[in-house]
Amino acid sequence: MRLDGKIGLVTGAASGMGRAGALLFAREGAAVGVVDRDAQGVARVVDEIRAAGGRAQGIVVDLRSDEGAREAVGATVAAFGGLDFAWNHLGHPGPARVEGLARDDFDLAVDLNLRSIITTTEMAIPAMRARGGGALLFTGSTASLVGSPYSPVYSAMKHAVVGFMKALALRLAPENIRANAVCPGPIETPMLPVFGNRPDQPGRGEDMSEAKLAERKKVVPLLRFGQPEEVAAAALFLLSKESSFITGVALPVDGGITAK
Ligand SMILES: NC(=O)c1ccc[n+]([C@@H]2O[C@H](COP(=O)([O-])OP(=O)(O)OC[C@H]3O[C@@H](n4cnc5c(N)ncnc54)[C@H](O)[C@@H]3O)[C@@H](O)[C@H]2O)c1
Repeated sequence: MRLDGKIGLVTGAASGMGRAGALLFAREGAAVGVVDRDAQGVARVVDEIRAAGGRAQGIVVDLRSDEGAREAVGATVAAFGGLDFAWNHLGHPGPARVEGLARDDFDLAVDLNLRSIITTTEMAIPAMRARGGGALLFTGSTASLVGSPYSPVYSAMKHAVVGFMKALALRLAPENIRANAVCPGPIETPMLPVFGNRPDQPGRGEDMSEAKLAERKKVVPLLRFGQPEEVAAAALFLLSKESSFITGVALPVDGGITAK
């Protein structure tokens, strides 16, 4: 197993790619802190992992608060006795507009895309140091690598996530702590407007005709949207010892979008 005996956490783990990652890492032998504010979703993921014979601890916190971000690490360490990896996956699509940008919308995007991952990382580093090393993983986006005309604020923050990751990779390399990022293209999760109609983001979901959906998929060279499991597989690689000489990398998992 590729994460045998390892201890890690995944944020935003009740749904989508985070959920897929938590399930995969547990199947590969890791004890996993399943971090999300959605208590029912967390319970479902934890139950699924345990039913398959894996180890998981549900950690229900609002990652917008510093206490929540600290608790994500603290509760994982308390449950399993250490921390070897952390997938800081949670993010927020952010406001689409620039003109007339509301302060509250901006603050929410900063809190979830940057502040929470910085606070979680601040806590994770000493825990990994105590284990003699570790692996940090962040979730960027194609909007980390190229500009997205639809979401300039999100692009700014996702570029910052990759900047943070690269700086950490350099700073922490002497301590055998690696830092990398996955940069997904459109993935079939509730966050993708085509599929999402979430209570916390009213009106984000779009009902699309088959023709319009097909049109959207043409943006992707592989002519389809990705599945959460395809991003989880890349995450597993970057967290396992198979990638032991890889640090500071932002890996596109985007069906070829950023190759254009
Ligand atoms: N889905 C895509 O097409 C896509 C593409 C590129 C990047 N991303 C990135 O992937 C990540 C989102 O992943 P997904 O698409 O798997 O998401 P998702 O919508 O399936 O799940 C998001 C999860 O985050 C949780 N959450 C939201 N706010 C929270 C908070 N304040 N505290 C704790 N938990 C909270 C939700 O309960 C939910 O379980 C983000 O970093 C996003 O920027 C997504």
